[in-house]
Amino acid sequence: MTPLLGVEEIYSAYGLSRVLFGISLEVFAGECVCLLGRNGVGKTTTIRSVMGLLRPSSGRVVWKGTNITGWAPHRVARAGIGFVPEDRRVFAELSVLENLTVAAHAARRSGRWTTDAVFELFPKLHELRNRQSGFLSGGEQQMLTIARTLMGNPELLLLDEPSEGLAPLVVDSLLEQVGELKRQGLTILLAEQGVEFSLALADRVYVLERGAIRHTGPSAELRDDPALRDRLLAL
Ligand SMILES: Nc1ncnc2c1ncn2[C@@H]1O[C@H](COP(=O)(O)OP(=O)(O)OP(=O)(O)O)[C@@H](O)[C@H]1O
Ligand SMILES: [Mg+2]
Repeated sequence: MTPLLGVEEIYSAYGLSRVLFGISLEVFAGECVCLLGRNGVGKTTTIRSVMGLLRPSSGRVVWKGTNITGWAPHRVARAGIGFVPEDRRVFAELSVLENLTVAAHAARRSGRWTTDAVFELFPKLHELRNRQSGFLSGGEQQMLTIARTLMGNPELLLLDEPSEGLAPLVVDSLLEQVGELKRQGLTILLAEQGVEFSLALADRVYVLERGAIRHTGPSAELRDDPALRDRLLAL
């Protein structure tokens, strides 16, 4: 079986500062895969390299069998990869509903995700649809960022640290909502520091350390083995 996304031995750098050292990973259709690792290990850089926001100095990014390495981000998005960045950028002056309609126009991909469908997944956003987005709470902005990306009808969702900085109760509802996306068959590549959050969602994990993959396997393995988890992720 060919993976939906294949990352093959990528090396990425910011100028002279080298960050990724031969990252390889695969994401199959319908899977939720998590990049797990502490601060600064290269999770965001890996995701940015997939999205075309950073061009790997070597290695390949393969999407449905096509080499997309070096494609511009908008072209990667149109090919079906949706990106939810860690900084939750929403158009602060626009209302929730306006943020969604702008995203739908920009995406030029049709499919099951309409404003009605995202409001069904995120009832809170429906309540807040006329609220100026700059006034939303962190959790609400995270929902809006995800909702906006869904409006592009991606086949693969790249989620960078969705739980970061959110209160535990907000994290629980986010977990529920992302879990629902997974149940609906959306393929997800998640980057997280939150072990609980990732292990609750992911089928498989890749644990990163200093720009390389230190461990990979089913998330159940890490769930059931606290000693392994501590060894891989202890601070
Ligand atoms: N724009 C940049 N210019 C230079 N170095 C950068 C830049 N962005 C990240 N780095 C460095 O690259 C390394 C990996 O960063 P990256 O953001 O990929 O880590 P991360 O795993 O996403 O961390 P976090 O959990 O804190 O988000 C770090 O050492 C970081 O300082
Ligand atoms: Mg990051």
